[in-house]
Amino acid sequence: MKTELITMAAPARAAERAAAILRAGGLVGLPTETVYGLGADGLNEAAVRRIFEAKGRPQDNPLILHVPEAAWLDRYCLDIPAEARDLAARFWPGPLTMILKRREIVPDAVTCGLETVGVRCPDHPAALAVIRAAGVPVAAPSGNRSGRPSPTCAAHMLEDMDGLIEAVVDGGPCGVGVESTILDLTGERPRLLRPGGLPLEALEAVLGQITVDRAVTSPLAAGERPRAPGMKYRHYAPKAPVTVVTGAGADTARYIRDHAGPGTGIICFDEYADSFPGCAVRPIGASADTAEQARRVFDALRSFDGTAVTAIYAQCPPDAGLGLAVANRLKKAAGFQIVALEEGA
Ligand code: TXA
Ligand code: MG
Repeated sequence: MKTELITMAAPARAAERAAAILRAGGLVGLPTETVYGLGADGLNEAAVRRIFEAKGRPQDNPLILHVPEAAWLDRYCLDIPAEARDLAARFWPGPLTMILKRREIVPDAVTCGLETVGVRCPDHPAALAVIRAAGVPVAAPSGNRSGRPSPTCAAHMLEDMDGLIEAVVDGGPCGVGVESTILDLTGERPRLLRPGGLPLEALEAVLGQITVDRAVTSPLAAGERPRAPGMKYRHYAPKAPVTVVTGAGADTARYIRDHAGPGTGIICFDEYADSFPGCAVRPIGASADTAEQARRVFDALRSFDGTAVTAIYAQCPPDAGLGLAVANRLKKAAGFQIVALEEGA
């Protein structure tokens, strides 16, 4: 199949073209503020099943539905708690996915048979225009092949999906760079299933303290089932193995320099970019600038593929603000292979 690249030169025409492909059961790579998604008509079972094939995605990993406004929540969800409406009013469009009870109309192909569904309203003009023009909720996981780092520009999308899907809409690089924050609102208390583009602190300012699912910070025990099925898979991983080093920047830079050799790839903060002579260095932003790190972390992970790099070390921000999401993606890319240099660690 030839994959069409749709540019946003004429935005209304581009949205209409992408919407026509979606309505006909096709797959379209769509820009969002977080990462590019691989979209299909979320009410069309056959189209949704094609997403799983194109990604090589395990059959038990549900998809989220993308809607153009909070008013659509009632079409797909039941027993919507007041918190969900409050959060939608404050943070949508934006990088927040809420897990809610689903209505019957949502196909099993989307939820993988769960009684719940994830819903999000993306903050990207092209995504919103396409969804509105299609007139259906768009089911869209991140647009990478399963296990690969998520795509944060149209070129990444094509790297993974060229020839497998009908089209990619080029909306430029993603402004946030890590996926949405996932909050489960179906239990007694709200629970964070995945840290993402909306900091946990912003949610806690509205809801009070939120339980963080164990899968966010720790590897799962053998046979353990996480609440977000996707958290159990090795993820975001480049081909070379990754080791994450946590602790103060100067300490982690020294540790990495002592362990690196020719052929080592290094993901580091800007301050340390010159500390690793002879290595393949990918700075991802200043150590204090977690927003910049979020924008660049997936591109850095991807950039080692196709190079001679055989091992990767990464500096890692502390778990505050967007640092929680950046650290989670790095640790997952490393399969939780972590060297902790913090005092007392
Ligand atoms: O920012 C994002 O969320 C991007 C863009 C494209 O919107 N999408 C995205 O989708 O990251 P995906 O499929 O790569 O990640 C969604 C995660 C998976 O880990 C999945 O297991 C979990 O959400 N999930 C989906 N539906 C769920 C449900 N009903 N209950 C618990 N977890 C769910
Ligand atoms: Mg994904």
